[in-house]
Amino acid sequence: MGATPIFETFTSMGKELDIGEPITPITPVTDFSNHSRMSVRLPETEFPPSLEKELGSSYTLPNSTITYINTATITPPRSTRSCETLHSPLHAPKTPSPPPTRSRAVLNTPTRTPARRSVSTFFHARPSSMFVEDTGSSFSRPQPLNDYTTTGGKLPFYFNAYSLPSGTREVFVQHPIVDKLLEAHIKQLRDRAWRLFPYPCVGMFEYARFNLRTYPLHRELLELLRTGAKYLDVGCCFGQDIRYLRTQPGIDPMNLYGVELRQEFIEMGYEMFLDRESLPSKIAQADVFDDNAWIYRELTGKLSVIHLGYILHLFDYNTQVDMVKRMMRLIDRKPGSMIVGKSVGAEAAGLFVHPTVGEMFRHSMITFREIWEENSGCNVAVYLHMGKERRVSADGKQIFQHPANERAVELEFCVLILD
Ligand SMILES: C[S@@+](CC[C@H](N)C(=O)[O-])C[C@H]1O[C@@H](n2cnc3c(N)ncnc32)[C@H](O)[C@@H]1O
Repeated sequence: MGATPIFETFTSMGKELDIGEPITPITPVTDFSNHSRMSVRLPETEFPPSLEKELGSSYTLPNSTITYINTATITPPRSTRSCETLHSPLHAPKTPSPPPTRSRAVLNTPTRTPARRSVSTFFHARPSSMFVEDTGSSFSRPQPLNDYTTTGGKLPFYFNAYSLPSGTREVFVQHPIVDKLLEAHIKQLRDRAWRLFPYPCVGMFEYARFNLRTYPLHRELLELLRTGAKYLDVGCCFGQDIRYLRTQPGIDPMNLYGVELRQEFIEMGYEMFLDRESLPSKIAQADVFDDNAWIYRELTGKLSVIHLGYILHLFDYNTQVDMVKRMMRLIDRKPGSMIVGKSVGAEAAGLFVHPTVGEMFRHSMITFREIWEENSGCNVAVYLHMGKERRVSADGKQIFQHPANERAVELEFCVLILD
């Protein structure tokens, strides 16, 4: 018979924990030289705060249970009962105990005067062995009776804060776990956002793309913001481009603003980027067509960059004219200020009825220029990129393309104020 670890438990019953004293139906153990693992369990009480201080000295544990593993070479008991069964007063053994092995004989000697050992003796003796390890024993392991995390970090070996130590981050970043967790995180947010409103950009994970980077005059935009200019993302949804800009050197996040009709999208943005407490930028709910909205009180004439990402095209032509005029109220009309964005347009302009969004006017390159030139009230230069829309899902299995008869195009634009 090889070495068989066995769990043994006994209870202090509110007394000072004297290992040698027979205070439970279980025979106490006095010789710990063969016991290499142990744990302390507190069935009904939390770890008393004083234990933190007293770890280095003797301590009285009220109603406590000590569990340890005896790794001595012993013959296991014939019974296959778990340690809980063996040691519960409610399940006192009805059959005679197995014949004692050599070590048990020593343990059970009634004439032996047990040494008085306090709990702290155990801590000293086995400082790094607080938790029972899986020894491969066929005996079931005792389960923790207390959730020690509920002690709120009072224990000296339960840290609250965690930041990746150097060398750890690199390994995690290269491990697929990071991609998998991120994908799951982004996808569950998509499903919640989709239930709120089924925008195509939500369905295609646009909120996890940083479109700003592909707009005309993107470099100039970054340079402008590095001079301390202010930026507003209109209909920012999750506010992803604000997070992109925040990572760019030299840009003060206090100068980045977002306005969004649906508070829930703003909340999801904080959830996505886990920065509710740390993002200094102001992202707040408002209807851009509401004259009393905070953006008009706080930002009129102060913005150097306005971002219209997939929002202008949501409306009919007249509403778009209204939006153009509102943007011109918000912008600082000095040369170099810019309104950038992205819209779905069409080779031939016209009203389009979208299955989830409703009526929307799709611009051609010509009508897009006209709506800005005619309604901005100043000299503007309109820069446009045009491309056919083609979106492929990350796994390459799904491709989105507008039906050919729509003749849809992507319009990436920068309306630059000249004078
Ligand atoms: C199609 S999504 C585009 C989101 C984001 N700008 C992007 O590029 O991914 C349009 C967003 O504009 C918001 N929106 C629609 N009407 C608005 C309004 N009147 N005022 C403010 N935001 C509005 C929607 O709630 C939605 O988040």
